[in-house]
Amino acid sequence: MMRFGLVGTGVGGDFIARALQLLREEGSAELVAVAGRRGTKTEEFARKYGARRWYTSLEQMLSEGGFDAVAISTPHYLHFPQALAAIEAGFHVLVDKPMAVNLREADEMMRRAERRGVKLGVIFEYRFDPVMEEVKGLIEAGKLGRLIMGEAVVEWFRPQEYYERSDWRGRWATEGGGALINQAIHTIDLLLWFMGDVEEVWGLTGTFAHDIEVEDLAVAALKFRSGAFGVVQGATSIYPGLPTRLEVHGTEGTAIIEGAELKTLVVRGEEARREVRRESGLASWSRPEAVPVDNHVKLIRDFAQSVASGGKPRVDGAEGRRSLELIRAIYHSSRTGRVVKLPLAEV
Ligand SMILES: NC(=O)c1ccc[n+]([C@@H]2O[C@H](COP(=O)([O-])OP(=O)(O)OC[C@H]3O[C@@H](n4cnc5c(N)ncnc54)[C@H](OP(=O)(O)O)[C@@H]3O)[C@@H](O)[C@H]2O)c1
Repeated sequence: MMRFGLVGTGVGGDFIARALQLLREEGSAELVAVAGRRGTKTEEFARKYGARRWYTSLEQMLSEGGFDAVAISTPHYLHFPQALAAIEAGFHVLVDKPMAVNLREADEMMRRAERRGVKLGVIFEYRFDPVMEEVKGLIEAGKLGRLIMGEAVVEWFRPQEYYERSDWRGRWATEGGGALINQAIHTIDLLLWFMGDVEEVWGLTGTFAHDIEVEDLAVAALKFRSGAFGVVQGATSIYPGLPTRLEVHGTEGTAIIEGAELKTLVVRGEEARREVRRESGLASWSRPEAVPVDNHVKLIRDFAQSVASGGKPRVDGAEGRRSLELIRAIYHSSRTGRVVKLPLAEV
């Protein structure tokens, strides 16, 4: 049984704790300690999820120990210092998306974990979604032919109040960006998983519908290393918010995932056009407590197994870094007005 200490008791922390409750039942992982900022809230959270100990600082939790890994689900700018503290204290680290706010931090996290001999995993739980795995399998089996275009379209809406009630969202220093790095990042991660690495990107970011520093709308044109083209759209400003769309087009067919469904799957020569309804997938986030945690369960189980077997977690630091690299490249492109070539290094 892998024992977790968790820092962060917000929306992301709730997903992790819910998943750990299910994993405790099967005997593979459990939540034993929680760190937050506020005593009462942290204690309530710990009691709700059956954690025996709670703390009002990560440092205190780390120094008392009694667990094998630390899960981090705090504001983005804290991922780097908190991950380093946990790694240096000798714990495996599972960090929520984005793994850090820039590549210098991400690279340092990977270096330190390697040196200390601990695992670093990143929470991109949709990699474990049955719909996404099915599309990945079709691509790998060559069913769609040679891929020629991939699109990640995240036209969401968040009211101004969403930013106002948070002390870290909407600012570069604490969120590290806006719609791309927070909301669209899951879909961008999947796009890269399906299509491979990007070679060049030209992007535009802007702030249209909120009083915030960071972007609430972004568009980018991509050229993948394979030669395929790609499109990214990320928004928290498209009223009233539309279902997420992830499209993969190959010379032999098309797969379109819309919201939680594999909406369209057409393969040349196979007449059937399938529509599959599922509850998981890139579902609506308007009621996070209603979003099932199956994918979190699978990701955490995989992470625990990687520790037990000495192998790599499926979403390790290098995999977690990929979407961050593309997002940082879009930010650089938008700032400079130039096409940015990848791989991108930020030192
Ligand atoms: N993988 C997913 O599907 C998913 C879903 C949602 C969020 N996330 C990610 O989860 C992370 C947290 O986002 P969220 O939406 O949960 O934000 P949130 O609701 O604002 O929660 C952030 C949590 O961090 C705590 N915190 C803030 N500063 C801290 C500090 N210095 N030390 C310890 N704890 C501190 C907050 O404490 P207070 O309670 O005192 O404010 C709060 O419990 C982000 O990386 C986000 O992108 C991932």
